[in-house]
Amino acid sequence: MTFPHSPFHIGPIEVPNRLVMAPLHEITDQPFRKFIREIGGVGLVVSEMISSEALIRHAVKAEKMMAATGERPLSMQISGGRPEALAEGAALCEAAGADLVDLNMGCPASNVTKGGAGSALLKDIRLAERCVTSMVKAVKVPVTVKMRAGWDASQKERGEFLDFLRMFEAAGVQALAIHPRTRAQQYEGHADWSIIARAVEAGTSYPIIGNGDVNAREDAFRMVEETGCTAVMIGRGALYNPFLFRQILESDFIVTTDMRIDATLRLFQILLDLLEPREALHKIKKIGAWFTKGVPGGHGFRQNLHAASDAQALLAAIDALRHQAA
Ligand SMILES: Cc1cc2nc3c(=O)[nH]c(=O)nc-3n(C[C@H](O)[C@H](O)[C@H](O)COP(=O)(O)O)c2cc1C
Repeated sequence: MTFPHSPFHIGPIEVPNRLVMAPLHEITDQPFRKFIREIGGVGLVVSEMISSEALIRHAVKAEKMMAATGERPLSMQISGGRPEALAEGAALCEAAGADLVDLNMGCPASNVTKGGAGSALLKDIRLAERCVTSMVKAVKVPVTVKMRAGWDASQKERGEFLDFLRMFEAAGVQALAIHPRTRAQQYEGHADWSIIARAVEAGTSYPIIGNGDVNAREDAFRMVEETGCTAVMIGRGALYNPFLFRQILESDFIVTTDMRIDATLRLFQILLDLLEPREALHKIKKIGAWFTKGVPGGHGFRQNLHAASDAQALLAAIDALRHQAA
């Protein structure tokens, strides 16, 4: 069976299985990617979105986002609305060790779209074409795109995403991830997988990666069955349950409460190893809250987590959670 075990290719890059961790702003940084790889099951990881404009002014925060060690294959995602900045940004990512460079054409945040970046590119196919073309010319590694179903319902209904698919092919894009909500939907409603199916039916030369609302093993198989997509990309599902990739690969993989608590602790250790203590605490507060949804005692833990002012307080909160859950 092809899904989920067999490798697939993005240009010359082999991805060892059909499971991709979605890019998540302020979450899929280097420590998180190391963590999720350690948990296992994921074939490809993607950086959080990095602003090409910030990269070209050598903003320290953006440069840090390109940190990468031994996590191949690794895709770095950039955002922007200026072809020149995107070309330069892509080249910087390639130099920093990216195996793939991805263009964000999905971010709905107004501070991103008002600069013409993210999902705003869906409103201007000619500009989007210049953006991807400039990136393809700037790097040797494959360029990929992650897009939404359209800017709004009417653009989606007109099927304009299919024009983008053809344009990408001509421009040399080598894989496309589709999150089939419109920009207007933000994160509301359901991801409309029929859009992924139509993209697959269009018969592109590059693989289509389906994304949206895969929160359990069955969802992943159903997405592939209903759409025919080559691979499945998972975001929030892997935050509620970082073992989800393992569960998709191994039908009898059982996740216990202890494993979930251990995972929270392990992520915190990795964050402390790789980041300043304050930054590590800030990140674990954000991610630990996702990890412990549904864990007995999780509500109290999240309150303690929120109040924790240093690593000791956080470790005590994890200990208390373990006792409560036992
Ligand atoms: C907290 C958060 C941050 C996100 N950051 C990014 C990002 O940096 N780049 C991107 O392309 N998509 C981003 N997304 C969208 C996800 O990659 C994904 O497309 C979306 O969450 C749907 O997939 P899911 O249902 O598996 O979560 C983000 C989503 C969330 C919830």
